[in-house]
Amino acid sequence: MSQLRVRGLAGKKALTGTLRVSGAKNSALKALAASILFADELRLTNVPLIEDIETLSTLLLGVGVTSQRTGDHERTFSAQNVTSGALDVPLSEKIRASIVLTGPLLSRTGGVSFPHPGGDVIGARPIDLFLAGFVAMGATATSMGGTYTLKAPQGLHGADIFFRIVSVTATETLMMAAVLAKGKTILRNAAMEPEIPHLAEFLNRSGAKISGAGTPTITIEGGPLLRAGGTSYDILPDRIEAGSFAILGSLLADELEITNCVPEHFAILTEMLRFSGAPIKAEGSSVRISGNGKRSNNTFKPLTISTHEYPGFATDLQAPMTVFLTQVNGESNVFETIFEGRLNYTQDLVQMGADITMGNPHQIIVRGPSTLYGRELFGPDIRAGLAYLIAALVAEGDSVINNVHYIDRGYERIEEKLAAIGAPVKRMQ
Ligand code: UD1
Repeated sequence: MSQLRVRGLAGKKALTGTLRVSGAKNSALKALAASILFADELRLTNVPLIEDIETLSTLLLGVGVTSQRTGDHERTFSAQNVTSGALDVPLSEKIRASIVLTGPLLSRTGGVSFPHPGGDVIGARPIDLFLAGFVAMGATATSMGGTYTLKAPQGLHGADIFFRIVSVTATETLMMAAVLAKGKTILRNAAMEPEIPHLAEFLNRSGAKISGAGTPTITIEGGPLLRAGGTSYDILPDRIEAGSFAILGSLLADELEITNCVPEHFAILTEMLRFSGAPIKAEGSSVRISGNGKRSNNTFKPLTISTHEYPGFATDLQAPMTVFLTQVNGESNVFETIFEGRLNYTQDLVQMGADITMGNPHQIIVRGPSTLYGRELFGPDIRAGLAYLIAALVAEGDSVINNVHYIDRGYERIEEKLAAIGAPVKRMQ
């Protein structure tokens, strides 16, 4: 089990240089699932080198979808021999995105069975929206001994579906299922995260008929299998990685350029950091922090953060942002509105010296500035794991971060990227 050893910078703005953002985990995983909708080979570029991609590729192999790594960040997927069947249980239980395979698989093959999908323990994470959607599209859904079975031997048909809750993966899964269904599907109260219109545009280039992706109402006219025809699909830059780098840079960098990103996709975060006092601005496909060494973190202003569906403040940036708030001057409020278990990690920040009070599982008050002290940490999930890394860098003294596999699930070669801008982070095997 590898660990990250971190020497704290004690709040000094010692980092400088350039960080290149990798392809987005939450875009790439959906693109892998989309390969099931294709009659021919699908080529993906800008694929991040992260654990979740390996896990989903292995799951796909189990249902007959073969893949090849054709470059450092390039892969091909071929679903010519896809079979209906059972998704591997331990692998499906490792990642939430395993559920996304069910839509294209059911639609293409007429049947799929799978366990409750796993992933971060940040709340109950039910799958009722998925099941209700499939049933509305003509499938039967049964559940026995922890296994769900969906059947639609005659294929799926279009349906008018209203989501009770806005869900990113339910929107993507049913949108993909509808591509091969008979007739028209309308998804209402759909999620609008940038990965969704990006996926729809690519599917449309290959023959799908999707309109309205990126708005709350998506309409899909079902049709035959898609054809990539040799074109490739470039995975979006990761807005969560980019945003996390922006937070790290605001706390600890003098000069930092974050490149290969779409600043518009995390504009609310940049606005919040700027409002607080960080000298940060978007320039084309980069975000730059400039002259930050002159500004002490304890001159930064407190903030009220309320997580929200896109274009609101991403729940995946809530934990790193809370670390930022431990360093600013005054009382900040954080409201986590999406996942009920997503503030539990703050107990570890308190152990490091942060002044955080939990009002209820959805709300904390953060009083700053606090000196954080290095310690041994056990990352509880992917996003909080990265927040711990930022906290360890801000702290005085050394830290050891265990459970690095959580960070590796979503962030490519994190220690190499951070070491290149001067961060004292080392991986110990
Ligand atoms: C996706 C992202 C995750 C991000 C989250 C919110 C992927 C692989 N993961 O997760 O990084 O944190 O969006 O931006 O893309 N819900 C139900 N029933 C359902 C489905 C969801 O009640 O059937 C609830 C969830 O418990 C949660 C809310 O809906 O409270 C939103 O969750 P959702 O958007 O589905 O998150 P994911 O798609 O799992």
